[in-house]
Amino acid sequence: MDQNQAKRAVAEAALKYVQPGELLGVGTGSTVNFFIDALAALKNDIPGAVSSSEASSARLRAIGIPVVDLNNAGTLSIYVDGADESNSHLQLIKGGGGALTREKIVAAASKKFICIADESKLVQQLGTFPLPVEVIPMARAYVARALVALGGQPVLREGFTTDNGNVILDVRNLTILDAFALEAEIGLLAGVVSVGLFARRPADVLLLGGPNGVRELTAA
Ligand code: A5P
Repeated sequence: MDQNQAKRAVAEAALKYVQPGELLGVGTGSTVNFFIDALAALKNDIPGAVSSSEASSARLRAIGIPVVDLNNAGTLSIYVDGADESNSHLQLIKGGGGALTREKIVAAASKKFICIADESKLVQQLGTFPLPVEVIPMARAYVARALVALGGQPVLREGFTTDNGNVILDVRNLTILDAFALEAEIGLLAGVVSVGLFARRPADVLLLGGPNGVRELTAA
């Protein structure tokens, strides 16, 4: 099974969590794209979706699923999204696609967060994948200095502006022993919009696709 087959398999496995007649939250990325493709088969049962990015919104509309403003949606029953890394507590690094802020908002507004990924995303310790931090443009240099003081090596994501008009610093070399604490520490820096650590709101279920099919993890 190659990586795309694994992504397709977990995307299809997530369909069982979709509640007919209810709005759902939909994330961003290549694994989610397979999920949106699979959702097409259920589109007559789904009144609409809240999306975490312009890219996913366009893909949802293309298959005929209405995109709903979160402010008009109330609490969502499920949120389905990918991840760049997960540990066994289902704490995640996200934001490789740059949609971390909206992903965090939709995850926070959902009862159940179903994370879909291929096996390569499961790690012992978070931090090999550079941690994305969305920053208000005028705070870029200040926040970069503060991240260096925390032991990281921030690199500006060149030529990239988020859907919210901000920039992203990808932070390498962080030793993330306590994701819960680091999420707050970075999140409280002036000018940081959000940090791509999902430790305070981790996933509830992690569906992992690999050579032996799909396995389902809940937080250890
Ligand atoms: C988007 O901003 C990210 O959080 C994605 O969820 C993450 O990068 C996973 O993407 P893939 O499914 O493409 O690996």
